[in-house]
Amino acid sequence: MSPLFTPVRIGRALAPNRLVMAPMTRSRADDHGVPGDITATYYAQRAGAGLIITEGVFPSAMGKGYVRTPGIETDAQVAAWKQVTEAVHARGGRIFMQLMHCGRISHPSLLDGATPVAPSAIQPAGQAWTPVGQVDYVTPRALSLDEIAGIIDEYRQATRRAITAGFDGVELHGASGYLPEQFLSSGSNQRQDHYGGSVENRARFVLELLKAMAAEAGADRVGIKISPEMNFNSITDAAPQETYTYLVEQLRGMGLAYLHVALFGTPVDYHALLRPRFEGAYLIGGGLTQESAEAALAAGKADATVFGSAFLANPDLPERFRLGAALNAPDKNSFYSPGPEGYIDYPALAAAPGA
Ligand SMILES: Cc1cc2nc3c(=O)[nH]c(=O)nc-3n(C[C@H](O)[C@H](O)[C@H](O)COP(=O)(O)O)c2cc1C
Repeated sequence: MSPLFTPVRIGRALAPNRLVMAPMTRSRADDHGVPGDITATYYAQRAGAGLIITEGVFPSAMGKGYVRTPGIETDAQVAAWKQVTEAVHARGGRIFMQLMHCGRISHPSLLDGATPVAPSAIQPAGQAWTPVGQVDYVTPRALSLDEIAGIIDEYRQATRRAITAGFDGVELHGASGYLPEQFLSSGSNQRQDHYGGSVENRARFVLELLKAMAAEAGADRVGIKISPEMNFNSITDAAPQETYTYLVEQLRGMGLAYLHVALFGTPVDYHALLRPRFEGAYLIGGGLTQESAEAALAAGKADATVFGSAFLANPDLPERFRLGAALNAPDKNSFYSPGPEGYIDYPALAAAPGA
């Protein structure tokens, strides 16, 4: 039998298969960060995943970085997410919320006019997706020590609200050049205090976030996603092997549910470097196919495999893999467009034409 269809423990959760749905921003919430009914439908359609990880969700309004993204700060947001978790659980699924603070990858027009925050006042290259179209990123404001403590507390409170909303756990988005990785990486962090400089100092924010999240949810309901050398969102690091080795070694003994490592063609085999250093479930992602996922599992290189765009386009992806059925192709034009089109209308197998 395919190793994809054997159960696996992911912290407190027992996943019936090793196919995890990747966190994917879909920009279907309203302007107050509240997801609508279609979001409950979208995730419930994908409840056959061993584990669903939601799109990135901002723990506080200053963490927003894209139009129509959802939050977990207000009572209305919590109530809407409760509908999502209930719909997924009713279909037998498990779902973690990804907490995503974009830091400098934002724009005042998404933040009620406020300047985005970051470890250091270094402007990223590139453009923000705002309500008025694409505009250059601005120079962010460097956070004070008090503000850093405040953001860590916001993640703690967001974790508490996520658990209240019925989530099975929370994932720290430590990848893709957002706030945690801005602290971790030497190119975006030039602080002179104990959050900058040495790798010990640059990793401090990420580790403190995880401890705050674990204090609320229990460590066995907390995971972290990293993407070494993805070089996305203007992130650079002078010594990424050293940075990620140190970070993952510090996770030892914390009892986290999982480490999720997304790789996009790095010169170094980070899975070989990091997996032996982590004791919990090791999740791999980034351009996987059924074949490459099965090969990685069979070789013992991962405990579970994470699929993004294939899950977006195939609500019944596990069933299709089990049957060797053809896959729907993802439509990039509707990845971030508002409304149900390209969101909840990808057909399941029985409904697919010619099936
Ligand atoms: C539409 C879309 C939105 C995404 N949004 C997020 C996000 O909010 N958080 C995140 O960690 N990764 C995000 N990603 C990256 C995915 O989680 C995943 O790492 C990536 O798609 C690689 O997996 P794949 O090749 O199977 O698609 C997004 C990817 C896509 C396609």
